[in-house]
Amino acid sequence: MGAAALDPRRALAAYGEDYGTRYFKFGPLVEQKPRVVESVGLFLEESHLLKMFGIERQLVVGDEVRRFLGAKSALARSVVYPLTDGEVRRDDERAWLVLSELTRKGFEQFKGFKEGRKDFDGFYVTAALSAIAPEYMREELLKIHAKVDGETGLVKAFTVIPQPLAVAIAEKEISCVVVESGHGNTQITPIHTYPIREAVVALYRGGAEADAIAAEVLKDLGYGDLASDEIAVRRFKEEAGLIPLELDDAVRRAREDPERFRCRIKLSALTEVDVGDKGWYRFLIGEVVFNPAHEIFESYRKKGVLSIRDARLGEETVEGTLPLDEALLRSIRKTPTALHDTLLSRIILSGGNFQWKAPENLKDVAVNAPGKVKHLLSKRLGGSVNVEVRLTQDPQFSVWKGCVVWSLALPENYLWNEKRGEGWFKRGVHY
Ligand SMILES: Nc1ncnc2c1ncn2[C@@H]1O[C@H](COP(=O)(O)OP(=O)(O)OP(=O)(O)O)[C@@H](O)[C@H]1O
Ligand SMILES: [Mg+2]
Repeated sequence: MGAAALDPRRALAAYGEDYGTRYFKFGPLVEQKPRVVESVGLFLEESHLLKMFGIERQLVVGDEVRRFLGAKSALARSVVYPLTDGEVRRDDERAWLVLSELTRKGFEQFKGFKEGRKDFDGFYVTAALSAIAPEYMREELLKIHAKVDGETGLVKAFTVIPQPLAVAIAEKEISCVVVESGHGNTQITPIHTYPIREAVVALYRGGAEADAIAAEVLKDLGYGDLASDEIAVRRFKEEAGLIPLELDDAVRRAREDPERFRCRIKLSALTEVDVGDKGWYRFLIGEVVFNPAHEIFESYRKKGVLSIRDARLGEETVEGTLPLDEALLRSIRKTPTALHDTLLSRIILSGGNFQWKAPENLKDVAVNAPGKVKHLLSKRLGGSVNVEVRLTQDPQFSVWKGCVVWSLALPENYLWNEKRGEGWFKRGVHY
């Protein structure tokens, strides 16, 4: 990596893309942080009113979508979230159109890189996909990037890496277990130089399930009208939600002393949610990330609010509700025994769904995500096993960071190698 890191031309050209279920993070290394837009598109019906405002396009994407969404508008029917649980179906044309437009608009923001720079002839782009993303997703993304290059000349080379590997790269770890949890999915991936594919355990759940519980909590608190307002639900979840160290204990204490767990959350100048004496609900929102199989969620499961798909990995089925600690152990057990101890001592959490706060005054009952995972594993394995869990620095941006580092480090003349699943697709060679 050293030599490449010193080449300012390569550093300028490094670009990363993280295709998330909820957010698309993209941009060049030199910006140090990705730009973030919602992974969403809206197909507009032709309208004279819109034309009057100069809007001729039929597809708008990203944050612009909100501008067109009157809450109860008929337009809402054509909103497309292209990724579900980190995946796009092959034949879902509209989803691919949205991804294509998100990608193109991303590059459009960096057109300026070409101006006045003779030595710049396009970005080296690394895109990250879920570790279990089907092969055709890479192929479709390659087509999209080739097309963008045709239009803008901004994509000189393109490659794809698995999201968990990107996290390990960003964290500079070669032996670790990465647990990446975003809005739509949670991937557990042991890494020893390469991701150990046979040991990947994927769960089709993420922040979306915490949203689902938060929406139900809002209903129970008497704010039913907010429960269908996605943004309100997410804000409420992120502000009010707490991860209990031990759910039963936390709920009991919050019931005994409700005032300590009370919170009021301002969602707009006009709307405030007060949890009143039902502060114990806050723990359900955080617990569901770790153990949606807990009996306390039974009524939600019955109502269909928590319906999590099972994942099929080769011959095996992984229940979507599998407790996170069990999933972790299942994954580590599939690696060579010589690695187990090292892996247990290097568990890395990343993704927005692990970004929970642990307020200082509640720290006897509420913990952050690494605290919870460590607790669950120690309980299962006994205190004598050395378990270390940490959270990446910017959990939502780690994947992107790994992408730009990879763009910088992958040798320029190393072309795509099918067997190894790495290397560049290049302008003039592959497209
Ligand atoms: N402070 C917070 N507390 C709790 N959850 C949070 C917090 N900040 C962000 N999140 C949640 O993280 C999720 C988004 O994370 P992220 O950007 O990693 O997902 P994504 O990459 O779009 O999805 P995926 O990786 O599953 O495809 C959302 O559900 C969001 O509500
Ligand atoms: Mg993600």
